[in-house]
Amino acid sequence: MSNAVEINAWRLSDGDDSDTTLFARIAADLTRHGYSIRPASMPASLVDPLHAHVQSMNETQFRAAGIGRGENFVRSQFVRTDEICWIDGSSPAGEAWLQWAQKLRLYLNEKLLLGLFSFESHFSHYAPGDYYKRHRDAFKSDALDRRAQPADSNRVLSLILYLNPGWSARDGGELVLYKDDADVNGTKVTPLMGTLVIFLSEEFPHEVLPAARDRYAIAGWYRVNSSSADRVDPPR
Ligand code: OGA
Ligand code: MN
Repeated sequence: MSNAVEINAWRLSDGDDSDTTLFARIAADLTRHGYSIRPASMPASLVDPLHAHVQSMNETQFRAAGIGRGENFVRSQFVRTDEICWIDGSSPAGEAWLQWAQKLRLYLNEKLLLGLFSFESHFSHYAPGDYYKRHRDAFKSDALDRRAQPADSNRVLSLILYLNPGWSARDGGELVLYKDDADVNGTKVTPLMGTLVIFLSEEFPHEVLPAARDRYAIAGWYRVNSSSADRVDPPR
C-alpha cells in the first residue's frame, strides 16, 4: 500500500508531460543542429537516485575503460584514463534510467524515424586529472563495411548525463563538442548535475578535459540493428 502511494507521488511530481516537453526540445535540436545540449534539464527524481547510486559504488565495481568492442577492446592510457561500469538495470536507479532511455528511444523513432534499435550505457568516473582525448563514438564506414573496420559499433546517437552537484568553472572537466574535424574551438559543456548532451555519434568529435575533482557521468549509445545471417549485432 505505501509503495503504491510513493509511486503515485513520483508520477505526480515528474510525469509524462515533463518528459514529453524535454523529448520535443531534444528532437527539435537534433533536427536543426545534430546535437542537443540541455543544461540541468533532467528530472531530479531520476538524477538524484543515479547520483546516490554512483556515490555508493565501490571502486572495484569500476574497471578501466577500453576502446572498441569484443576482441578489439584495448586499454589505452594515451586516449582515455577514466573507469566505467555498465548499467544492467540491477539497481532501481539504473532500471529507471534504462526505462527513461527506452521512452526517449521510442519518441525519437516516431518523430525522426531514426530506427534506433537498442541502448547501452555505463557510469563513468574520472578521477582528478583523468581525461578522454578527442575522438568520435562511431565512424561512417561502420554500417557499410563492417569487416573492414572491426572496432565498429553501429552507434547512431550518443547521450551523456552528468551527475556532479555544485560543479563550478574552476573544476574543469568540460566536455568539448566539435562540429567537425576542422573545428579547433568547439563548444564547452560544464558537467553539472542533470545536464544532458545528445549528438549524432558519427558527426561530432569530442573530448573530456581533465578535472580538478572526481567527475561522474553516464555515457550511453542508441544503436541500429545491423545483423546479418552470420552475425548478430548488437550482441545479445
Ligand atoms: C565517452 C565520452 C563524454 C563525457 O564516454 O565516449 O565521450 O563528457 N564521454 O563524459
Ligand atoms: Mn565519446
